[in-house]
Amino acid sequence: MQNVTIMEHPLIKHKISMLRDKNTGTNEFRTLVEEIAMLMGFEALRDLPTEDVEIETPIETTKQPMIAGKKLAVVPILRAGLGMVGGILNLVPTAKVGHIGLYRDPETHEPHEYYCKLPEPIDQRTILVVDPMLATGGSGADAVTMIKEHGGKNIKFMCIIAAPEGLEKLHEAHPDIQIYVGSLDRELNENAYICPGLGDAGDRIFGTK
Ligand code: PRP
Ligand code: URA
Repeated sequence: MQNVTIMEHPLIKHKISMLRDKNTGTNEFRTLVEEIAMLMGFEALRDLPTEDVEIETPIETTKQPMIAGKKLAVVPILRAGLGMVGGILNLVPTAKVGHIGLYRDPETHEPHEYYCKLPEPIDQRTILVVDPMLATGGSGADAVTMIKEHGGKNIKFMCIIAAPEGLEKLHEAHPDIQIYVGSLDRELNENAYICPGLGDAGDRIFGTK
C-alpha cells in the first residue's frame, strides 16, 4: 500500500510484544508507549524540515542544519494518544501540541467528537497525529478530516497497532497522508477490538476500566 510504512525494527517489535502482555502494569505500559512513539517518530520524522543556523565551532563560524521544530505539530487523539506525545517531544522539544477529542461509542463503535484545539497556523506545519490503536479506522479518519477542515495539509498518522480493516479505511479516506504502523495485526473481533492487540489502550495507560 502506497504511503503506508509498517515498522520492521526488532527494538520496536520487542517493545510492542511487551505492551501486549496482560501482566504489563500501568507504569511500565506508559513507559513502553512513550519509548515506542519515540522510536517510530525517528522514522516518521525523517523528512522533517531543517533550517541553516549559524554556529561557532572552536575553529570557525559555519551555517549548519537544525530542525525547524516550531514547524511540527503533534496531535494526539484523546485519550490514549496522549501517551505517545512525550516520546515525540523527546525528539523535537520545540514542537507544538494540538488535541483532538474523540471517543468510540461502545455499541456502534462510531467515533464522537468532543474537542479540537490545534496550533496555528496549522496549514504551515507538518502534523503528526498519534493514537496507539487503529481499529475500525473511524477515529483516525475523522481526526484527519477535522485537521484538514482546519486547513492542515502535510499530515502523518502514527499508530502502534492497526487492524487491516482500519488501515484500509484510513488509507482509502485519506490516500494523501503518510501512515506509520508499529504492527499490523490479524483482525477485529465482534466488539471491534484488535486481535491479538493489547486490549483497551486508554484504560491501560491511565489505569481505568
Ligand atoms: C481508542 C483508541 C482510538 C480508537 C480506535 O480510543 O485510542 O482512538 O479507540 O478505534 P477505531 O479505529 O475503531 O475508531 P477510545 O475511543 O477507546 O477512547 P479513549 O482513548 O478515550 O479510551
Ligand atoms: N481501541 C483500543 O484501545 N483497543 C482496541 O483493540 C480497539 C480500539
